[in-house]
Formats: sequence, structure tokens, C-alpha cells
Amino acid sequence: MDKYNIIKIPDVNSTNSYALSLRPTKLFKEGLVIVSDFQTKGRGQRENTWESEKGKNLIISVVIEPNISIEQQFDISIIASLSLVNCLLDLGIESKIKWPNDILVNSQKIAGILIQNLIFKNIITHSVIGIGLNVNQLIFDDYTPKATSLKLEINNNFNLEKIQNKLLSSLQNTIETYHSEKNLEVEYLNLLFQKDKVAVFESRFQRFNGLIKGIGDRGLLIIETENIVKEFDVKEIKMLF
Ligand code: BTN
Repeated sequence: MDKYNIIKIPDVNSTNSYALSLRPTKLFKEGLVIVSDFQTKGRGQRENTWESEKGKNLIISVVIEPNISIEQQFDISIIASLSLVNCLLDLGIESKIKWPNDILVNSQKIAGILIQNLIFKNIITHSVIGIGLNVNQLIFDDYTPKATSLKLEINNNFNLEKIQNKLLSSLQNTIETYHSEKNLEVEYLNLLFQKDKVAVFESRFQRFNGLIKGIGDRGLLIIETENIVKEFDVKEIKMLF
């Protein structure tokens, strides 16, 4: 990525949707960044909404051009998650990744990621990586997992633009590392929340306990239940707390 083209919009429906709406224009290319203070229709994973107090948090979407096959789709989750973890580490905060890509600090959610891909002939040509990072917000609705923010963690007010630039440079570094063929999966696995521990999951049919063994091909979660090892897709199960 050569450089970022940062477009700031005070109020927007969703930075991801806005970025995607620019698809027919020349602006829609690697490095396009949409940042906003407030979203009226912030989108989360699994059709959830993403709520964020106006002007308090980082709300950002970045367009990248991965040009990888859809089989490697999970690599984008790995890149986005590691960028956030390393950005937080730079601020002195240790975090974990709850599969597939929630970022947790002391088991509380500090950031969420929503990735939307454009695919042409089995190739992911563009990805819109949407990130909501809780920065200065102090009070959150009762979510599960509970939410936290940088300010709640280190009792400091943060400049949103500085955090934004830190995150963008972390993303750039992670993408460069990825292209240098370094295996990022090992790093992702080391940061996986509840790895080698029993967690509770919910599928369409049941709730069950399972031991998190690791990540399989295409980012499937490997879980051992009653001595049977199975791999699950993100659409099949949800990890509960
Ligand atoms: C999740 O944890 O469910 C994912 C949340 C992703 C929220 C971000 S905020 C910026 C971007 N625009 C959106 O509408 N969603 C993502």
C-alpha cells in the first residue's frame, strides 16, 4: 500500500456502507479510508448493529486489495486482528482475539471488526475492513461480552486522530509482513482467547461445551467435544461467555 486517502465524514450511515457506495468511483481502491464521528446504522457481525457514542471512539473502514483466493479469506481477519492487537500493545495494552475477530482486554470487548469482500472469479479483489475501537467512551449498554475502552483501561483521554494513525500504520506493517510470506497464523493462534480451554458454544441446534484446540484450514475453529474433534465455520457456531 503506497499511502492512505483519508476521507472524514462527521455523520454517516455506516463507514463500511459508505466505502462500498464509492465502488463505481476512482476513489474506491487500496488505501481508501473512511472515518466518522458517528454512524446512524453502524453494522456489526451477524447482522448486529454497532453502537458508539458520538465523537468518542474510532470508527473507521479501510479498503485493501488483497488479490487472494476466497479459500484464503480468513487471512484478512488475521491481518485486521493482529493490526489491532499490535496497535493496542503499542499503547501498553495487552489484548486477545476472540475467534474470529473480536478484540478483548481482560475478557471485555474493546474492538470489533466487520470485513466485507468483493469477489471476482474466486479472487477477493477488494476488502473493506471496518473497525470500531472503543477509545474514550466510559459507559456502555449491557452487552455480552461486556465492553471496555482505552480510557476505561488506562484512565487517559486519547486523541482519536493519533489512535487512527497508529492503527493505520500497524495495518500497513501487518500487510507488509503478510506479503513477506511470514506465517501470521502462529501469532494469531498465540493470541487466541480461551485456547486450550473449555468454552461454551451455541449452534442452531444446541449449546455445548468444547475445548478450543486451534484454527484449521480457512479459519475454521477446531473444537474437541466428548473426545471428538470437529471444525466449525463462523456461520455455524457462536462462542458464548
Ligand atoms: C462486530 O464486532 O460485530 C463488528 C463491529 C464492526 C464495527 C465497525 S465501526 C466501523 C465500521 N462500519 C460499520 O458499520 N461497522 C464497522
